[in-house]
Amino acid sequence: RPARFTLDPAFTVGTAGPRLFGSFVEHLGRCVYTGIFEPGHPTADDQGLRQDVLELVRELGVTTIRYPGGNFVSGYRWEDSVGPAASRPRRLDPAWHSTETNRFGLSEYMGFLRRLGPGAEPMMAVNLGTRGVAEALQLLEYANHTGGTALSDLRIAHGDEDPYGIRLWCLGNEMDGPWQTGHKTAREYGRLAAETARAMRQLDPGVELVACGSSSQAMPTFAAWEATVLEETYDLVDHISLHAYYWPEDGDVDSFLASAVDMEAFIARVVATADHVGARLKSEKRITLSFDEWNVWYLPEWEARSQEFARDDWPEAPRLLEDRYSVTDAVVLGSLLIALLRHADRVAVACLAQLVNVIAPIMTEPGGPAWRQTTFFPFAQAARHGRGQVLDVRVDSPTYETRKYGEADLLHATAVRAEDGSVTVFAVNRDRTAPLPLEVALGRLGVTRVTGHSALADADPDARNTLTEPGRVVPHEVTGTAVADGTLTATLEPLSWNVIRLA
Ligand code: AHR
Repeated sequence: RPARFTLDPAFTVGTAGPRLFGSFVEHLGRCVYTGIFEPGHPTADDQGLRQDVLELVRELGVTTIRYPGGNFVSGYRWEDSVGPAASRPRRLDPAWHSTETNRFGLSEYMGFLRRLGPGAEPMMAVNLGTRGVAEALQLLEYANHTGGTALSDLRIAHGDEDPYGIRLWCLGNEMDGPWQTGHKTAREYGRLAAETARAMRQLDPGVELVACGSSSQAMPTFAAWEATVLEETYDLVDHISLHAYYWPEDGDVDSFLASAVDMEAFIARVVATADHVGARLKSEKRITLSFDEWNVWYLPEWEARSQEFARDDWPEAPRLLEDRYSVTDAVVLGSLLIALLRHADRVAVACLAQLVNVIAPIMTEPGGPAWRQTTFFPFAQAARHGRGQVLDVRVDSPTYETRKYGEADLLHATAVRAEDGSVTVFAVNRDRTAPLPLEVALGRLGVTRVTGHSALADADPDARNTLTEPGRVVPHEVTGTAVADGTLTATLEPLSWNVIRLA
């Protein structure tokens, strides 16, 4: 039987704004060095930024870019990363067992965003692992103060006359994780985050602050952590962070395809926890969510590899977390995007972790080309067509059995209505072998024709784009999708990500 749903302009979830399509650049592996930044590369500009990568990042359509970590930020000394490049110190990075040259720093990050264009927004993290309130204030003064003080004048002396105007700040990273340098209990972190937030607001009332939530839903302290941290910070922060990575555990592809079930439940639980704290505090304020790390990541492979680190070897920009994504991975990533859109009422910020080379949609070779992974396509299409009013989609779908989540819908879908009245349906067929017929009642939407149906699917679900075959997987146009008598009909190919545009 077909999967069905009804769209009505009166039933909306919320607004999907640009910040849902953020990404993340961490000083990790080759994300920065030989990723976005490679002086001497044939396409490098006068700042050492790879223009082939810049072009792909623009095409990807990312907006907010989180920086500089990640686990890296818990050892970050911001002052090492500014001033004349030749005199910046080399440091050991305990998080990734690497040597940080600091050749790329805060000013280069801001330059990178400027070159990306007006849609790019900084999202800076402060170090609350090995540092605290004072250093956060120093960084904020250096970055955002106009001039006439020691640190703002230092920025000017370093060549950046205009303040950076960074609005969005993360108060540390994954402070619940025992692997985090300077890991803390929820109460310890909550107190530090509150005092840092209060001081940062005293210096710059315009900042928007993200408190660290749990590093995953599987953490033993999940939910209790969020409750304690928000008890301490509720009036001082705007967002609480969520991080989630998915992979086919023990080769269980059917559950992997339903990863968004877990992501949507995670969002609902964090919302419930935050609202519970708000209720106890008798507060009208609503904390929103910053899903600032999400992706497919073959985590067990990384964990196994990390055991092999030679303890006396501290390489510069080693190849770390360079996952190569398949068609299946891209369909899951598309479904995770659908999950984020479906919760646009509470998810205010989302960052695909990460941008280049490190669990990334864009890959590069040092001195060589850059190319799009399979996961590039769903992200780019959602970033382009997924802005506007998210319509409330309740699917009536055939189901399948999964080991992790029980019975799951074969169809996962959302729809977004743009300002001009056009509508985009994003849909995933989780059935690995059979096509899925789809019927959508368009009611009073006022759209009458299909302007395009793009699908990402392949006879080989393991197909990937590689250095030698960078164009192996690309989306294709689907024919036969039509609107008649107020109903959209389409056939979703087995294991596919679909973007259906209506006008
Ligand atoms: O994105 C890779 C790492 O995953 C980040 O550094 C950390 O925050 C998370 O555990």
